[in-house]
Amino acid sequence: MQTDSSFTFVLFGGTGDLSMRKILPALYEAHRAGLLAETGKIVAVARHEDNRDAYLAWVNEHVKPHVSKNGLDEAAWKSFLERIVYVKLDLSRPEDFGVLRDAVGTLPGIRVFYLATSPSLFVPICRALASVGLNENARIVLEKPLGYDLRSSNAINDAVGEIFAEGQIYRIDHYLGKEPVQNLLALRFGNALFEPLWRREWVESIQITIAEELGVEGRGDFYDNTGALRDMVQNHLLQLLSIIAMEPPHSMDADAVRNEKLRVLRSLKPIDPREISKVAVRGQYHAGGIRGTPVPAYSTEKGVKPDSTTETFVALKVEIENWRWAGVPFFLRTGKRLADRVAEIVVNFRPVPHSALGATALRPGANRLVIRLQPNETIRLYCLAKQPGEGMNLASVHLDLAFDQFFREGQMEAYQRLLLDVISGRLALFVRRDEQEAAWRWVEPILGEWANSNKPPKPYAAGTWGPAASSAMLAQHGTCWLEEEN
Ligand code: BG6
Repeated sequence: MQTDSSFTFVLFGGTGDLSMRKILPALYEAHRAGLLAETGKIVAVARHEDNRDAYLAWVNEHVKPHVSKNGLDEAAWKSFLERIVYVKLDLSRPEDFGVLRDAVGTLPGIRVFYLATSPSLFVPICRALASVGLNENARIVLEKPLGYDLRSSNAINDAVGEIFAEGQIYRIDHYLGKEPVQNLLALRFGNALFEPLWRREWVESIQITIAEELGVEGRGDFYDNTGALRDMVQNHLLQLLSIIAMEPPHSMDADAVRNEKLRVLRSLKPIDPREISKVAVRGQYHAGGIRGTPVPAYSTEKGVKPDSTTETFVALKVEIENWRWAGVPFFLRTGKRLADRVAEIVVNFRPVPHSALGATALRPGANRLVIRLQPNETIRLYCLAKQPGEGMNLASVHLDLAFDQFFREGQMEAYQRLLLDVISGRLALFVRRDEQEAAWRWVEPILGEWANSNKPPKPYAAGTWGPAASSAMLAQHGTCWLEEEN
């Protein structure tokens, strides 16, 4: 469905990595699919290129290779480029923003300002926009990381909040734009089947893994000051957790959904600093191999301090203090340079209370739901069945649901979905300020303990599943990570 409203999409950081890999390709895909209003314009703001021709040459060289996944449609590409306006601007000079006002002032529709820049520029850009009156009839999109801790995140939110109302602010967490993540909502709240079982009485433990094969990909500088807890846990993993654990919202209205997620984030059991080694494992990769290719140690990556203690792996045991989830451990894990690229959620149900059919039925994990978010979206339900033949022996079997077999078309990349939502004013898949604060508040004690600790992160070889301590943490609860089962 085409967005009915026209728009002016102003992209700050127009020659940055994110614009090149994600934002411009997503806008092109939306254009190619006929989902953008005809009159909509894209105003790229950067200082590297001198004029529109030079910028379009840059787009052709750098963006085009990232849009060819579905086969590039040359005619659509050409008409996409016609939407682009270029404004050369040095963002550190607010006095120059008059140029932007002149370029944008006469363009139709809602204004969307996308800040694909360093967070240190968020506030100066917002103030400069206000100084030339561009904060009216506007929405602003803030990329993560929004701050470095609760204090810096509050400082940005306070300053941006003086210029834009909360309803104009779109804080992106691209995981919320992933089709399978939204499917979690559909699975839980569109079916009567799972919801009655989705609670402490029937669920023994839950695992959420986002594992990457990639390393820091030339972002060593940024990553070394960030680490996995800030880069992945504070946002993506806690957002996934809140979607899995939330109560059914009364509607899909943005605040109805976000209120329920917030309640989960506020119910997270605070980490006791004295107990931290029992509930949190941090690791850093050493040299190793991914699928047979040698990869260097994190500490030798460009931009990384040789004696860095930044974590590239985190595993946590999290508890939610409410009636639905009290006592159920949620194991969260993420890391760079792991054995596989996979994001999945494992719901382990409790075994039967009494087995008339032998010990197999009492084994943990006999009933389990595995929701794979990527690389291919599937849901697998494990249960027990009778082995054919004599006797009554049980064996594990599973029901598989592969979404690409049901829905062959219409899948949208996360950024495309989210950008269309911003243009159409749909806030449900964006993070509200109070959610973000609650997430920071919860991770801060861990950050603090690790910053003051004299114990370095535990080493793991690139291409493995992280430090042994992560497995040991689960073993204490009589369970193990999914890949360790067989
Ligand atoms: C980003 C992190 O938010 O998410 C990156 O900054 C990470 O470090 C990326 O690689 C993972 O996203 P995806 O969609 O590839 O799983």
